[in-house]
Amino acid sequence: MRPDYIRIVEVGPRDGLQNEAQPLSPQERVELIQQLAAAGLKDIEAGSFVSPRWVPQMAGSDEVLESLSGRVDLRLPVLVPNKTGYENARAAGAREIAIFGAASETFSQRNINCSIDESLSRFAEVCALAKDDGVVIRGYISCVLGCPYEGKVEIAQVVSLAAKLIAMGCSEISLGDTIGVGTPDKARALAKACASETGIDSLSVHFHDTYGQALANILACIEIGVTTVDTAVGGLGGCPYASGSAGNVATEDVVYMMEGLGIDCATDLDQLVTITDSLSRRLGHPPASRVARAQLAKRH
Ligand code: HMG
Ligand code: MG
Repeated sequence: MRPDYIRIVEVGPRDGLQNEAQPLSPQERVELIQQLAAAGLKDIEAGSFVSPRWVPQMAGSDEVLESLSGRVDLRLPVLVPNKTGYENARAAGAREIAIFGAASETFSQRNINCSIDESLSRFAEVCALAKDDGVVIRGYISCVLGCPYEGKVEIAQVVSLAAKLIAMGCSEISLGDTIGVGTPDKARALAKACASETGIDSLSVHFHDTYGQALANILACIEIGVTTVDTAVGGLGGCPYASGSAGNVATEDVVYMMEGLGIDCATDLDQLVTITDSLSRRLGHPPASRVARAQLAKRH
């Protein structure tokens, strides 16, 4: 059975822009977030409090959050890898954070420079602080359907991590198919297995579209009751530590599919296409979103 409503978590200003050769200034990122909010999006990942030496594109995430401090109508999660990141995010006014672990040891090392066990200790420290401060915590698990270094990833490993992150205080687990290798039956089986530990309402799905499977995977997951989907405007993105990974599923493509299915997602498709148009000019490449490309061809 399909849901009536889907909540979109827009990750373009973080997962999208973190991978762009052309960095946007904090002010440009604020304007992008304001435009996305005007199109109806209420959950917008606003940046990362990671090392600017590792991900220079996310430098100035403190300025982004500070400029948006008046937008109490929005949920603006930011990535936090450790206590330093948490303290910086809080100083900038973060009310919601996202910790990010991985189901693969090698990816964990490459992405956050520590083992999975060590990452869990860091996350436990961050979560304890966040709970005291009343900060909402999202928990990402990367490489849930395959790893760029290790290949196959066991479902049991993802389920075990999801249970640990929930026990630490995460209100939602985002299942990241970082390299976009999943196919619908596998995606559904994974979501079902994780839901048995976390509850289906605590799951979000985060598909990169490397192999063109993202929409099919989303449909497979919403048909078993998942109602939160991570997307990126224009289909921006990729992970700097997962070579060959393509962008996230495009927000426009998901909104178009949901409209076709009669599922509300409270987002204006025309406005999204306009945002993607100007963003892709600024970034110097055409959008990955098929829907944006089709609609822009009709407009011009
Ligand atoms: P490290 O070098 O191991 O950290 O980095 P360290 O503790 O050894 O410290 C080294 C230096 O970094 C120190 O500075 C620290 O102060 C500083 P120094 O004394 O040399 O001047 N430092 C920091 N600076 C700013 N913010 C911080 C911070 N922590 C330490 N939070 C670290 C560890 C995690 C920081 C590093 O590996 C890092 O920044 N990695 C970037 C990870 C990242 O952003 N990856 C992309 C996002 S994940 C993703 O895209 C996947 C996802 O979308 C889901 C999916 O698709 O599957 C979420
Ligand atoms: Mg991602």
